[in-house]
Amino acid sequence: MEKLLSPSLLSANFGNLGADIALINSSEADWLHIDIMDGVFVPNISFGFPVLKYVSQLSTKPLDVHLMIVEPDKFIPEVKALGAKIMNVHYEACTHLHRTIQRIHDAEMLAGVTLNPHTPIELLKDIICDVDLVLLMSVNPGFGGQKFITNTYDKILRLRKLIEASGSKALIQVDGGVNLENAAQLYETGADCLVAGNAIFNSDNMIETIHAFKETTI
Ligand code: DX5
Ligand code: ZN
Repeated sequence: MEKLLSPSLLSANFGNLGADIALINSSEADWLHIDIMDGVFVPNISFGFPVLKYVSQLSTKPLDVHLMIVEPDKFIPEVKALGAKIMNVHYEACTHLHRTIQRIHDAEMLAGVTLNPHTPIELLKDIICDVDLVLLMSVNPGFGGQKFITNTYDKILRLRKLIEASGSKALIQVDGGVNLENAAQLYETGADCLVAGNAIFNSDNMIETIHAFKETTI
Protein backbone atom coordinates (compact mmCIF):
# COMPACT_ATOMS: atom_id res chain seq x y z
CA MET A 1 0.00 0.00 0.00
CA GLU A 2 1.27 3.49 -0.85
CA LYS A 3 2.62 5.57 2.00
CA LEU A 4 1.09 9.03 1.66
CA LEU A 5 2.49 12.20 3.24
CA SER A 6 0.60 15.43 3.88
CA PRO A 7 2.75 18.31 5.22
CA SER A 8 0.79 20.56 7.59
CA LEU A 9 0.91 24.21 6.58
CA LEU A 10 0.31 25.22 10.21
CA SER A 11 4.08 25.03 10.81
CA ALA A 12 5.00 27.08 7.71
CA ASN A 13 6.40 30.60 7.81
CA PHE A 14 3.21 32.69 7.67
CA GLY A 15 5.32 35.72 6.71
CA ASN A 16 6.37 33.98 3.52
CA LEU A 17 3.76 31.33 2.76
CA GLY A 18 4.39 31.51 -0.99
CA ALA A 19 7.99 30.34 -0.59
CA ASP A 20 7.04 27.39 1.62
CA ILE A 21 4.21 26.35 -0.71
CA ALA A 22 6.61 26.48 -3.68
CA LEU A 23 8.96 24.13 -1.81
CA ILE A 24 6.11 21.72 -1.07
CA ASN A 25 5.08 21.88 -4.74
CA SER A 26 8.56 20.78 -5.79
CA SER A 27 8.73 17.99 -3.18
CA GLU A 28 7.50 14.39 -3.11
CA ALA A 29 4.63 15.31 -0.75
CA ASP A 30 1.30 13.84 -1.80
CA TRP A 31 -1.16 16.37 -0.33
CA LEU A 32 -1.06 19.69 1.52
CA HIS A 33 -2.74 19.55 4.97
CA ILE A 34 -4.68 22.68 5.94
CA ASP A 35 -5.64 23.14 9.61
CA ILE A 36 -8.61 25.47 10.13
CA MET A 37 -9.35 26.46 13.75
CA ASP A 38 -12.08 28.60 15.28
CA GLY A 39 -10.95 29.31 18.87
CA VAL A 40 -14.09 27.44 20.08
CA PHE A 41 -13.67 23.76 19.22
CA VAL A 42 -9.93 24.16 19.85
CA PRO A 43 -8.16 26.82 21.95
CA ASN A 44 -6.42 28.44 18.98
CA ILE A 45 -7.10 30.24 15.69
CA SER A 46 -5.04 29.50 12.57
CA PHE A 47 -6.00 30.98 9.19
CA GLY A 48 -9.28 31.64 7.42
CA PHE A 49 -10.65 31.51 3.89
CA PRO A 50 -9.24 34.87 2.62
CA VAL A 51 -5.71 33.54 3.23
CA LEU A 52 -6.56 30.05 1.99
CA LYS A 53 -7.85 31.43 -1.30
CA TYR A 54 -4.25 32.40 -2.15
CA VAL A 55 -2.84 29.17 -0.70
CA SER A 56 -5.13 27.17 -2.99
CA GLN A 57 -4.03 29.22 -6.02
CA LEU A 58 -0.36 28.60 -5.24
CA SER A 59 -0.51 24.92 -4.28
CA THR A 60 -0.19 22.25 -6.95
CA LYS A 61 -0.78 19.53 -4.33
CA PRO A 62 -4.33 18.37 -3.54
CA LEU A 63 -5.65 20.10 -0.41
CA ASP A 64 -6.52 17.96 2.60
CA VAL A 65 -8.59 20.30 4.79
CA HIS A 66 -8.86 19.51 8.52
CA LEU A 67 -11.58 21.60 10.15
CA MET A 68 -11.21 22.00 13.91
CA ILE A 69 -14.39 24.03 14.15
CA VAL A 70 -17.95 23.73 15.44
CA GLU A 71 -20.72 23.45 12.83
CA PRO A 72 -18.42 22.60 9.89
CA ASP A 73 -21.45 22.16 7.57
CA LYS A 74 -21.67 25.94 7.35
CA PHE A 75 -18.36 26.07 5.50
CA ILE A 76 -18.81 23.29 2.93
CA PRO A 77 -19.17 25.88 0.09
CA GLU A 78 -16.02 27.72 1.20
CA VAL A 79 -13.98 24.50 1.37
CA LYS A 80 -15.36 23.44 -2.01
CA ALA A 81 -14.38 26.86 -3.46
CA LEU A 82 -10.76 26.11 -2.47
CA GLY A 83 -10.88 23.12 -4.79
CA ALA A 84 -10.19 20.82 -1.81
CA LYS A 85 -9.82 17.10 -2.39
CA ILE A 86 -10.78 16.12 1.15
CA MET A 87 -12.96 17.86 3.73
CA ASN A 88 -12.27 16.46 7.14
CA VAL A 89 -14.59 17.16 10.10
CA HIS A 90 -14.32 16.20 13.77
CA TYR A 91 -16.57 13.45 15.12
CA GLU A 92 -16.87 15.47 18.34
CA ALA A 93 -18.08 18.58 16.46
CA CYS A 94 -20.88 16.95 14.44
CA THR A 95 -24.23 16.13 16.01
CA HIS A 96 -25.54 14.82 12.68
CA LEU A 97 -22.36 13.34 11.27
CA HIS A 98 -24.11 11.18 8.67
CA ARG A 99 -25.82 14.25 7.21
CA THR A 100 -22.54 16.20 7.24
CA ILE A 101 -20.79 13.39 5.34
CA GLN A 102 -23.63 13.32 2.81
CA ARG A 103 -23.36 17.07 2.27
CA ILE A 104 -19.58 16.84 1.73
CA HIS A 105 -20.17 14.10 -0.85
CA ASP A 106 -22.93 16.14 -2.49
CA ALA A 107 -20.30 18.88 -2.91
CA GLU A 108 -18.13 16.27 -4.69
CA MET A 109 -15.33 16.15 -2.14
CA LEU A 110 -13.96 13.14 -0.29
CA ALA A 111 -15.26 13.05 3.29
CA GLY A 112 -13.01 12.49 6.27
CA VAL A 113 -13.88 12.12 9.93
CA THR A 114 -11.37 12.96 12.65
CA LEU A 115 -11.20 11.47 16.14
CA ASN A 116 -9.65 13.22 19.13
CA PRO A 117 -7.23 11.12 21.20
CA HIS A 118 -9.94 10.21 23.75
CA THR A 119 -12.58 9.19 21.20
CA PRO A 120 -12.76 5.40 20.68
CA ILE A 121 -12.65 4.15 17.10
CA GLU A 122 -15.55 1.80 17.93
CA LEU A 123 -17.89 4.84 17.68
CA LEU A 124 -17.30 4.75 13.91
CA LYS A 125 -18.93 1.32 13.45
CA ASP A 126 -22.10 2.68 11.82
CA ILE A 127 -20.43 5.35 9.67
CA ILE A 128 -17.20 3.66 8.56
CA CYS A 129 -18.61 2.56 5.17
CA ASP A 130 -19.68 6.16 4.39
CA VAL A 131 -16.33 7.87 4.93
CA ASP A 132 -13.30 8.03 2.65
CA LEU A 133 -10.74 8.71 5.35
CA VAL A 134 -10.43 8.51 9.14
CA LEU A 135 -7.97 10.90 10.76
CA LEU A 136 -6.67 9.78 14.14
CA MET A 137 -5.39 12.71 16.18
CA SER A 138 -2.19 11.68 17.93
CA VAL A 139 -2.08 14.94 19.93
CA ASN A 140 -4.89 17.08 21.29
CA PRO A 141 -5.75 19.35 18.37
CA GLY A 142 -4.98 23.06 18.30
CA PHE A 143 -1.21 23.36 18.11
CA GLY A 144 1.77 22.07 16.15
CA GLY A 145 4.92 20.74 17.75
CA GLN A 146 3.29 18.58 20.47
CA LYS A 147 4.37 15.16 21.73
CA PHE A 148 2.97 12.06 20.01
CA ILE A 149 0.46 10.01 22.07
CA THR A 150 1.55 6.36 21.83
CA ASN A 151 -1.95 4.90 22.33
CA THR A 152 -2.42 5.87 18.66
CA TYR A 153 -0.70 2.62 17.57
CA ASP A 154 -3.43 0.58 19.25
CA LYS A 155 -6.11 2.78 17.69
CA ILE A 156 -4.62 2.21 14.21
CA LEU A 157 -4.75 -1.57 14.74
CA ARG A 158 -8.37 -1.45 15.96
CA LEU A 159 -9.38 0.88 13.12
CA ARG A 160 -7.74 -1.38 10.52
CA LYS A 161 -9.75 -4.33 11.91
CA LEU A 162 -12.98 -2.31 11.76
CA ILE A 163 -12.25 -1.23 8.17
CA GLU A 164 -11.49 -4.79 7.07
CA ALA A 165 -14.49 -6.30 8.87
CA SER A 166 -16.88 -3.78 7.33
CA GLY A 167 -15.49 -3.72 3.79
CA SER A 168 -14.93 0.04 4.06
CA LYS A 169 -12.45 1.68 1.69
CA ALA A 170 -11.48 4.38 4.21
CA LEU A 171 -7.85 5.47 4.42
CA ILE A 172 -6.22 5.86 7.83
CA GLN A 173 -4.48 9.18 8.47
CA VAL A 174 -2.48 10.13 11.58
CA ASP A 175 -1.85 13.73 12.67
CA GLY A 176 0.20 15.17 15.53
CA GLY A 177 3.75 14.64 16.75
CA VAL A 178 4.66 12.63 13.65
CA ASN A 179 8.38 12.68 12.83
CA LEU A 180 11.11 10.63 11.17
CA GLU A 181 11.54 8.59 14.36
CA ASN A 182 7.96 7.24 14.45
CA ALA A 183 6.91 7.44 10.77
CA ALA A 184 8.08 3.97 9.75
CA GLN A 185 6.32 2.31 12.68
CA LEU A 186 3.12 4.24 11.96
CA TYR A 187 3.08 3.18 8.32
CA GLU A 188 3.95 -0.38 9.36
CA THR A 189 1.12 -0.45 11.91
CA GLY A 190 -1.39 0.50 9.23
CA ALA A 191 -1.43 4.25 8.61
CA ASP A 192 -1.97 5.12 4.93
CA CYS A 193 -1.20 8.82 5.29
CA LEU A 194 0.88 10.76 7.78
CA VAL A 195 0.50 14.46 8.50
CA ALA A 196 3.63 16.26 9.69
CA GLY A 197 4.10 19.94 10.47
CA ASN A 198 6.97 20.72 12.76
CA ALA A 199 9.09 17.78 11.55
CA ILE A 200 8.99 19.11 7.97
CA PHE A 201 8.77 22.92 8.15
CA ASN A 202 11.31 23.27 10.95
CA SER A 203 13.82 20.89 9.41
CA ASP A 204 17.02 22.13 7.77
CA ASN A 205 16.02 20.88 4.33
CA MET A 206 12.30 20.35 3.72
CA ILE A 207 12.77 18.60 0.38
CA GLU A 208 15.19 16.06 1.87
CA THR A 209 13.04 15.56 4.96
CA ILE A 210 9.99 14.85 2.80
CA HIS A 211 12.08 12.43 0.73
CA ALA A 212 13.19 10.70 3.95
CA PHE A 213 9.54 10.32 5.05
CA LYS A 214 8.64 8.76 1.70
CA GLU A 215 11.59 6.35 1.86
CA THR A 216 11.24 5.42 5.52
CA THR A 217 11.15 1.71 6.43
CA ILE A 218 11.56 -0.26 9.61
C1 DX5 B 1 -2.91 20.10 15.25
C2 DX5 B 1 -3.01 19.98 13.76
C3 DX5 B 1 -1.87 19.31 13.12
C4 DX5 B 1 -0.55 20.00 13.36
C5 DX5 B 1 0.48 18.91 13.42
O1 DX5 B 1 -4.11 20.48 15.77
O2 DX5 B 1 -4.17 19.23 13.40
O3 DX5 B 1 -2.08 19.12 11.72
O4 DX5 B 1 -0.21 20.92 12.37
O5 DX5 B 1 1.68 19.48 13.75
P1 DX5 B 1 2.94 18.63 14.23
O6 DX5 B 1 3.27 17.69 13.11
O7 DX5 B 1 3.96 19.67 14.47
O8 DX5 B 1 2.50 17.90 15.49
ZN1 ZN C 1 -4.37 18.69 11.23
